[in-house]
Amino acid sequence: MKSKVLITGIAGLLGSNFSRHLLKRGYEVIGIDDFSGGYRENLAEGVQCLNINLADLEAVDQFFREQRPDYVYHFAAYAAEGLSPFIRKYNYTNNLICSANLITSSLNYDVKKFIFTSSMATYGRENIPPFTEDMQPKPLDPYGVAKYAVEMDLKLAHEQFGLSYTIIRPHNIVGIYQNLWDRYRNVIGIWIRKAIHNEPLTIFGDGQQTRAFSDVDFYYEPFEKVMYDYSGEIFNLGADKERTILETAHLVRDCAHNFGFNPDLQFLEPRHEAKFAFCNHDKAKKLLNFKDATNLEHTVNRMFEWALTQPDRPVKSIDYEMTRQLYSFWR
Ligand SMILES: NC(=O)c1ccc[n+]([C@@H]2O[C@H](COP(=O)([O-])OP(=O)(O)OC[C@H]3O[C@@H](n4cnc5c(N)ncnc54)[C@H](O)[C@@H]3O)[C@@H](O)[C@H]2O)c1
Repeated sequence: MKSKVLITGIAGLLGSNFSRHLLKRGYEVIGIDDFSGGYRENLAEGVQCLNINLADLEAVDQFFREQRPDYVYHFAAYAAEGLSPFIRKYNYTNNLICSANLITSSLNYDVKKFIFTSSMATYGRENIPPFTEDMQPKPLDPYGVAKYAVEMDLKLAHEQFGLSYTIIRPHNIVGIYQNLWDRYRNVIGIWIRKAIHNEPLTIFGDGQQTRAFSDVDFYYEPFEKVMYDYSGEIFNLGADKERTILETAHLVRDCAHNFGFNPDLQFLEPRHEAKFAFCNHDKAKKLLNFKDATNLEHTVNRMFEWALTQPDRPVKSIDYEMTRQLYSFWR
């Protein structure tokens, strides 16, 4: 019998892409999404997705009672790291309480494995990159705190009740089905939307902060592999090749030219963020056969092609819970 796999956040970047992979591989896939950050149009053809807010424990419990998934890939989150200090309650609700609810139901209904996408944000500023999985997490913002809290809760759920789990710490993933209409996250997606609207590509500070972007296509096989193996393990997943944000903006601008757009660059005040943040991926390469062969120009061109087929959606604004020291560009 085919295994039944629940993907939360199935209308988002990772969920919509990975669900297509699992469907091709013959799994029965079912999704949960509340469409707060993903879109129905992203869903794979024929895939069943229930509109449930994971913060609602009763609704989550009913879903598990009726659907009985074998495996859970928990991707749903609001991954706006820089914004998280200004929306603490929203951050902890979406990124911690939702995860706790899902862990409770996974225990109640005997899920075989729980796979959680944490983040490089758990390493924080005090660790020196390249980050390795054995470093003591020291998150520097509420988003990183929520991710680390879920990691610790999974460990406890394993120790006390035997829940099998694996943690993936991805970083800077790009690809089609990424949300382009959220001004707080997904820098390349934001730039693509801005370029298409003839707006300047905005850079926080001098653009000398570095990041390593990877195409979502290289994540599917390692994700599938941890369904059965490596319980209790943590894996960094992402690209080795770093570039400065300024270099990346130039790359996006060059791709924009291919589509007839000619955006300027605009420098804004710096943000509270890690300047150099990159991971070591040796463990995933060795154990999960992870190979990142991202060609960022190719990925960005593909994202432009896809973006031009998308509706002209309004840009998301959020209700701030605190405006103290909120950056001028978000006011
Ligand atoms: N994309 C990256 O570069 C990256 C890096 C590190 C970690 N991650 C983690 O990987 C996971 C997937 O990221 P992504 O880029 O696909 O994000 P995404 O925003 O594209 O998708 C997340 C999905 O979760 C849904 N969602 C959010 N809150 C929900 C709730 N309360 N109930 C139900 N659904 C809800 C959204 O509607 C969205 O469709 C997240 O947990 C994120 O923190 C992503």
